[in-house]
Amino acid sequence: MSLSVVITGANRGIGLELARQYQADGAQVTALVRNSSAELGTLGIRVIGGIDVGRDDSDAPLREAMQTLPPIDVLINNAGVLSNESLDDPAFDRMRWQLEVNTLGPLRVTTALRPRLSAGSKIVLITSRMGSMSDNSSGGMYGYRCSKAALNAIGVSLAQDLRGDGIAVGLLHPGFVQTDMTGRQGQITASAAAAALRARIEELSIDNTGRFRHANGETLPW
Ligand SMILES: NC(=O)c1ccc[n+]([C@@H]2O[C@H](COP(=O)([O-])OP(=O)(O)OC[C@H]3O[C@@H](n4cnc5c(N)ncnc54)[C@H](OP(=O)(O)O)[C@@H]3O)[C@@H](O)[C@H]2O)c1
Repeated sequence: MSLSVVITGANRGIGLELARQYQADGAQVTALVRNSSAELGTLGIRVIGGIDVGRDDSDAPLREAMQTLPPIDVLINNAGVLSNESLDDPAFDRMRWQLEVNTLGPLRVTTALRPRLSAGSKIVLITSRMGSMSDNSSGGMYGYRCSKAALNAIGVSLAQDLRGDGIAVGLLHPGFVQTDMTGRQGQITASAAAAALRARIEELSIDNTGRFRHANGETLPW
């Protein structure tokens, strides 16, 4: 039986590379996206469009999608957004937007798809070391930092709540990656980040559920 993998935000960036690599390995991949892309289209995987994870009204399309999905081995909550707020320009609307997409989005997706998760399933939250308190030595990025810190809190609660069901939860930082999000300024390609994330996902189990890790294997401080 091939691995069943569901990935949000798979039309570009890290999500697209994860979809490409899992597909190449023979997994049965489903992409949940707002809109597909030419590159995603060429993969020939199942694409479910119209899923905006930042909106409460994504619940209906998510639950409709859930009905058509096979049992899920790996659910990767990858979709995310970043904007830069400073003390001079706190831009509360952009902060709320990041909280909706980065923090509540993965919880919306996970709760809607939960009927397709069972013992042995893995839930991955693509978080960021920018959400670490002790790693914050440069300040700023108010919305992004708090959205990922709050996502980490959600990840630990999910790990606790789902441990008894045998469902493991991994909180993974992909590295500083050359994607649209970073203006292509990252240190590694999306392809390298996806390969490293897949190695960590392979290692994820109920014995190490709830950990905050770098894709390079390091454990990150909260
Ligand atoms: N790149 C890095 O260095 C880095 C570092 C740490 C963590 N991360 C995390 O890695 C994940 C992927 O980032 P990336 O670098 O690949 O960024 P990216 O290239 O900008 O891709 C972001 C993805 O998220 C999707 N998305 C955004 N808002 C959405 C919404 N409301 N509903 C559904 N999908 C939405 C985008 O789809 P649309 O095309 O529809 O917008 C796109 O597929 C994010 O969670 C990010 O925070 C990235």
